[in-house]
Amino acid sequence: MSTTLITGGGGFIGVRLAARLQTAGRRVVLFDRHFEPSTLARPGLDLETIEGDVARFDDVHRVVAAIHPSTVVHLAAILSGQCEVDPVLAFTINVGGTFNVLEAARREGVRTLVATSSAAVYEATTPVSPLDEDAPLAPIGVYGMTKSVGEEWCRFYHRRYGLDVRIARPGAVVGPGRVAGGAASSWTTALIEEPLRGRPYVCPVAEDDSSPLVYHTDLLDGLARLCLADQVPSRTYNLGTCRATAGELARLVRERVPDARITFQPDPVAHSVVGRWRYVVQSYERARLELGWQPRFTTPADLVAACAGEVMSAE
Ligand SMILES: NC(=O)c1ccc[n+]([C@@H]2O[C@H](COP(=O)([O-])OP(=O)(O)OC[C@H]3O[C@@H](n4cnc5c(N)ncnc54)[C@H](O)[C@@H]3O)[C@@H](O)[C@H]2O)c1
Repeated sequence: MSTTLITGGGGFIGVRLAARLQTAGRRVVLFDRHFEPSTLARPGLDLETIEGDVARFDDVHRVVAAIHPSTVVHLAAILSGQCEVDPVLAFTINVGGTFNVLEAARREGVRTLVATSSAAVYEATTPVSPLDEDAPLAPIGVYGMTKSVGEEWCRFYHRRYGLDVRIARPGAVVGPGRVAGGAASSWTTALIEEPLRGRPYVCPVAEDDSSPLVYHTDLLDGLARLCLADQVPSRTYNLGTCRATAGELARLVRERVPDARITFQPDPVAHSVVGRWRYVVQSYERARLELGWQPRFTTPADLVAACAGEVMSAE
């Protein structure tokens, strides 16, 4: 049975992707610096876990050498808000960690490496057309910069060593249970989920701030396709489906919860990070044509409806 190692495997995307890959017949091993037992407790899931720090080469090399994965999915990172507050840590984990994973993969003969970048590599403070994967990158945010540099290292390992590297650029992920963590974009879920659960929500960005988005199940489908395909024609794939302002999401939530208690109190970090990708819309034509990716939720109304459906069915 072929083995997939997921770095950052204890996080929101990691555990969910692990479940998909296990269903597809893969042995999955999760690597993270910390695991919450509650996030791993999913019916039918049997996951191996290894603790370590992606920023320490020896930790990464030891695990890759021990389990001989055919595929590594590299998710370990600190997210947008935390990167702005601590650029040194951002560089150490996001850039250094990506390099460590690439080099360990090269030394141990890993066949495929799937890496998550982000729509934050694009920044657009004025209106632009939908951005495809070949649009030039010049991020001014620390997180986007670490992701952009990480991508370059990935493409270098493909060019120089022939490593089969596949890079995903997700939009901000909307999905119930996505905790705030260090992401400046966590409002995109909380603004929907908290009022649906009858709780007040203070949104840390302005009503006209906006983010590129993807629903978590669509993203998992795209990532699973990247992991499971024998070959892919390109190195980089956008996995984002639409964008919405905070005000638009609030309006859609109020159609379902008329007395939703949503207020806007922009936090300087979240507001400035999100402001930089205000006009970003990702074109996902390449993923559609080359991976057969057909996201189900492609408008802000779809995302709110999907989230509402999941929250209601869990209650
Ligand atoms: N969530 C989003 O909206 C979003 C959007 C675009 C891209 N991404 C990218 O997708 C990936 C996964 O995101 P997520 O939403 O699951 O985030 P998450 O914060 O839930 O998961 C990230 C995981 O990485 C781990 N990690 C951090 N530093 C580490 C280190 N030094 N060593 C080992 N593990 C470490 C964390 O403990 C965490 O479990 C990240 O690379 C992120 O940048 C996320």
